[in-house]
Amino acid sequence: MSHPAHITTLLKEGRVFKPSAAFAKAAHVGGRAAWDALRRKAAKDPVRFWEERARELLWAKPWRKALDWKFPFAKWFVGGRLNVSANCLDRHLDGPRANKAALVWEGEPGDQRTLTYRQLHREVCVFANALKRLGVKAGDRVAIYMPMVPEAAVAMLACARLGAPHSVVFAGFSAEALRDRIQDAGAKVVIAADGGWRKGAVVPLKAAVDEAVAQCPAVEKVVILRRTGQGVSMKDGRDVWWHDAVQGASADCPAVGHDSENPLFILYTSGSTGKPKGVLHTTGGYLTHAAYTARLVFDLKETDVFWCTADIGWVTGHSYVVYGPLANGATVFMYEGAPMTPAPDRFWDMIERHGVTVFYTAPTAIRAFVRLGGEHPAKHDLSSLRLLGTVGEPINPEAWLWYHEAIGGGRCPIVDTWWQTETGGIMISPLPGATPTKPGSATVPLPGIEAAVVDREGNPVPKGAGGLLAVRRPWPGMLRSVWGDPERYRSQYFSQIPGCYFTGDGARTDKDGYFWILGRVDDVINVAGHRLSTMEIESALVGHPRVAEAAVVGHPDELKGQGITAFVTMRGGAEPVTSEELKATVTKAIGAIARPDVVRFTESLPKTRSGKIMRRLLRDIASGEKPTGDTTTLEDFAALARLQAAQEE
Ligand code: WTA
Repeated sequence: MSHPAHITTLLKEGRVFKPSAAFAKAAHVGGRAAWDALRRKAAKDPVRFWEERARELLWAKPWRKALDWKFPFAKWFVGGRLNVSANCLDRHLDGPRANKAALVWEGEPGDQRTLTYRQLHREVCVFANALKRLGVKAGDRVAIYMPMVPEAAVAMLACARLGAPHSVVFAGFSAEALRDRIQDAGAKVVIAADGGWRKGAVVPLKAAVDEAVAQCPAVEKVVILRRTGQGVSMKDGRDVWWHDAVQGASADCPAVGHDSENPLFILYTSGSTGKPKGVLHTTGGYLTHAAYTARLVFDLKETDVFWCTADIGWVTGHSYVVYGPLANGATVFMYEGAPMTPAPDRFWDMIERHGVTVFYTAPTAIRAFVRLGGEHPAKHDLSSLRLLGTVGEPINPEAWLWYHEAIGGGRCPIVDTWWQTETGGIMISPLPGATPTKPGSATVPLPGIEAAVVDREGNPVPKGAGGLLAVRRPWPGMLRSVWGDPERYRSQYFSQIPGCYFTGDGARTDKDGYFWILGRVDDVINVAGHRLSTMEIESALVGHPRVAEAAVVGHPDELKGQGITAFVTMRGGAEPVTSEELKATVTKAIGAIARPDVVRFTESLPKTRSGKIMRRLLRDIASGEKPTGDTTTLEDFAALARLQAAQEE
């Protein structure tokens, strides 16, 4: 695979936002001096720095050796033993946190539940005992296919308690995608629900489980939570209702320590080949990274209500709905359904009613809210918010500024957090009480993380130039392998840049050393010898006041190698614009070199359920081909069909 060593970067963003003195004063890391001290300490001896972070957890047995690094395989806290669920639950029961809310939950139909740490602990113990009775032992893989209900977190924590690695499969995935993931992991038990609520309708999960499991002979038991109550068929001997499984199960389930390198979970992520990769995370290192980043990046305090809108089917849901915040004894808000149901102000209404203080979401969601208009958040009192975050894609400065004003009231710092399923936790991010932010930049690597922008040989590229985003030292939360395929692990992540982990992303640093993520290098297009980041062109397009969202891809062009096609959606109610006007917008923002050859207006863009635009499909359409390859992660098939139909007209 060849990657561009240099990516021409043309977009400039100059605004800087400093944390207020009041925010800095109260923050875990407040102000420049504290931040510098932390960075110096981590840079001096990173392994020791991580050991200190690991010591903040509860260990059943201390480690012998902090890091065993045999390129490209890492082991952290070797010989140590700990229980992740004890770290997230049991250790909070000795003091005032015991009766504090661990989970505050709202279902899409409006039903609500709150579980204190004591209650959540009890549910986890009871369910872990139920799983034991069903034959689950340490090392057995368990697939979880659940809506966003408290039991989804209970199931994850129960598996963690037993040392049985879970593989959470996003409940929006099809039966086929579920089947492939169950088979690849060799799961023996599946935990699911009859259905979940989304956009006012029932998503029939049990039907998908039946279809999938019919082709998974290794599955012995299927546990079904009754959530939506519609009729489902239960297969004798295989299927058991959650409420029956927990009947008579004891609430006493000792949390035995598991080896630090025991698998904690497998999480599938789409690979460039279309065959999903089972990213493997282990126990001690992962929790150390998740807990540390949750505390410092979200500045978690006892009084916070933390809402990360990600589904537990994604890594963000693992690290920042469940493990990171609970390890810190925080209160987590969790919501089951769609953001616009029943009305476009659902999120803002919930923030107001539940007093959410820290809110973490994806740029794609923010752009959707921009499109709906500022009147929806304006209807609500959002003054409880004190900190905002984003993850998943580069955020264009316009969306950042809207988020800052319309949601944050101009008072909340924004942490733009760069990381990946593979990294386990946040890698590049501001610390909200210390780092001046620039809209569109994830700022600098966290203390303990040695990320760099390099060329194909691993040499740093000069400031201002684009290159490959790499990590030069192992870190505790890093993936340990691709499940069942260590060779793929090596070739995918460690064969492209000598001695480094390659992220697959392009980036540049500016004069202050801030990182600007340019998107996946596969998304880079080459126009007449200039490698351009599609993200920068998209950002320029979204800078037009009437554009809601843009996706830019290359199409074959005899003259230039590649030409630029832009797919554009307009803000609700906005007056139409001409393609010429949008092309001129890009020329003005970046230069004529980036001017799109073709602008196509569309109602919506094909996206994954986690909100990533599927540029691969758009590339096919822009090239006049039929979209091919894996579409199991596509959220809205209709969007693709409409684009194709327009093509054929
Ligand atoms: C992209 C999500 C720019 C990036 C946690 C990365 C980002 C991929 C950011 C991982 C950000 C994530 N700025 N780009 N703040 N955060 N990305 O595995 O391309 O679903 O490689 O993990 O999302 O996506 P994943």
